[in-house]
Amino acid sequence: MQKRNKTPTSDAEKIIKLVQSQTKFIQPSQAVVIQEDSINFLKSLPDESVDIIITDPAYSGMNQKMKFGNGRIVGKYQKEGNGKWFTEFHDTKENYSAFLGECKRVLKKDSPIYIMFDSFSLLSLGSLVREYFDVKNIIVWDKVNLGMGHNFRRRHELIIYASKGKPKIASRSLPDIWQIKRITRAEYPTQKPVEIFEKMISASVGKGAIVCDPFIGSGSSAIASLKSGCYFIGSDVSPKACGITRNRIKKFIDIGLDPLQQNIINAHQKSIENF
Ligand SMILES: C[S@@+](CC[C@H](N)C(=O)[O-])C[C@H]1O[C@@H](n2cnc3c(N)ncnc32)[C@H](O)[C@@H]1O
Repeated sequence: MQKRNKTPTSDAEKIIKLVQSQTKFIQPSQAVVIQEDSINFLKSLPDESVDIIITDPAYSGMNQKMKFGNGRIVGKYQKEGNGKWFTEFHDTKENYSAFLGECKRVLKKDSPIYIMFDSFSLLSLGSLVREYFDVKNIIVWDKVNLGMGHNFRRRHELIIYASKGKPKIASRSLPDIWQIKRITRAEYPTQKPVEIFEKMISASVGKGAIVCDPFIGSGSSAIASLKSGCYFIGSDVSPKACGITRNRIKKFIDIGLDPLQQNIINAHQKSIENF
């Protein structure tokens, strides 16, 4: 199917310039990152200004649940404040509703949103998504290798695919289970494979689209956007996350390499074959 290219370059550039004006950092015209709270960042964007939202929020519920069982987070992220863990988004229903409301406002008509969830957050907050969007699917990300966990060990995460209006999809034969290996020895806690975000983008928008991620972390969604020929705007409250992402974007644009995921070319090829 012919992919969409809904946003004329001039519109995209206007949005990029607007976001760029919020930061003192000089950044490439394809991808701009702002150090800001997600809701404040979204509030700074005009109505109906982005083509797709792809995001992986920091659920505090997840962190609390990870302390269940033996009462501790397992592994190198165990001590909060040790610089390896990150700030939590306060995922109360009120805050999450405000977040979803802003996502809806900034999305163009007939556009999709992909939101990642762990199982616990899906139970507590997933139903709120239906108050703002038309929920189309819950996609399972099969991480292939076992992760941490008590009782049954975790091997998956979930992605709500929802829409404002009636977005197009690239093919009617895409599966709702995506098998992509987790990142091991990640430089950033909860760093996700670029291929997950590439799947979201390639299923929904074409080159020149504006992709938005209000919780960028290490910037995997930004790299996926650049690889797909899209513009990217995003935020994170953490200065560390913004620094990592800006460097990652710069290296990717300057030398075509992703410093945080060097397997990317083979992995990308493999993910296309599996799609
Ligand atoms: C699950 S991580 C995102 C990981 C990212 N997908 C990646 O591949 O690296 C969530 C991010 O949300 C950020 N965060 C927490 N509270 C936030 C807030 N209120 N606004 C914006 N970002 C926030 C954290 O600093 C963290 O980097």
